[in-house]
Amino acid sequence: MIQRPRRLRKKPIIREMIAETRLSKNMFIYPYFVVPGKKEKHSIAAMPGIHHFSVDELLKDAEKGLKHGVDKFLLFGVNEEKTKDASSSFSNNSVVVKAIKELKKNFGEDIYVITDVCVCAYTTHGHCGILHDDYVHNDSSVEVLAKMALAHAQAGADMVAPSDMMDGRVGAIREILDGDGFENTAIMSYAVKFASAFYGPFREAADSAPQKGDRKSYQMDFRNGREAMKEAMLDEQEGSDILMVKPALAYMDVISNLRTNTLLPVACYNVSGEYSMVKAAAKNGWIDEQKIVMENMHAFARAGADIIISYHTRDIFEKNWI
Ligand code: PBG
Repeated sequence: MIQRPRRLRKKPIIREMIAETRLSKNMFIYPYFVVPGKKEKHSIAAMPGIHHFSVDELLKDAEKGLKHGVDKFLLFGVNEEKTKDASSSFSNNSVVVKAIKELKKNFGEDIYVITDVCVCAYTTHGHCGILHDDYVHNDSSVEVLAKMALAHAQAGADMVAPSDMMDGRVGAIREILDGDGFENTAIMSYAVKFASAFYGPFREAADSAPQKGDRKSYQMDFRNGREAMKEAMLDEQEGSDILMVKPALAYMDVISNLRTNTLLPVACYNVSGEYSMVKAAAKNGWIDEQKIVMENMHAFARAGADIIISYHTRDIFEKNWI
């Protein structure tokens, strides 16, 4: 036998030398759920280890995480007033706006603040846009989303991440940001976001489940891989700086395909359901949490993800899994 692949697997030192995929702490973004009030810190039952934080508690937690190198956050606002027009989403007093300002005031350039831009947690009906006769109306939703992105940029967000899946929202956000002097505020679009059952635990966390119907008239059909590239290319043309695929685990083909089809950085979102399944199985002693988590993270990188958004980030950093 001339070729014996096992030669290069003989012991750790050689396995480490030939490893094709290496993770770096720089790749990770940690999501946070921010609620109004003071001294609020509540665990989210469906997402063990993840909490709702009021801004003061968020600062304390961010400081702890920062000591371990967790320095990039994705903020979600929860428990704000819900209206039909989602007006609390673009208020200059929103809990996300307050969180951005306080984070920036306390940690300055040591952190990078990204905000989720979507109205599902701010509408009475829980849809990601404005309803016209029970249909999520695209263009009026885009107007609201653009205003929301602007409010976040004005508060000091480094990057906005539209997750609504309306057509044309990246272009509209780029335009409103540039118009107000925020040409350096970046956009990471949830470019390829599938209508997925893997968001189940998040909807408890964000209290954002649609009251009626589902999100299939705006989020993508999970049977479509070619259309995924079309969505991504549109966002790229409209000015997105980073393209995200979401969820991640069941969509490795899409991550991989996107990596070969764009020059932009590719992000993947290791979503709530993916996280909760691992946590639940680990709690039962059915799997080794550290090994499963790190196998998943390497798989994202191997598939082509440059950036990983994951609720596991804190465990990975604090427990020195990386
Ligand atoms: C808001 C939004 C969702 C997620 C991120 N932004 C939920 C949804 O679209 O229903 C999911 C995140 C997760 O499951 O971790 N539109």
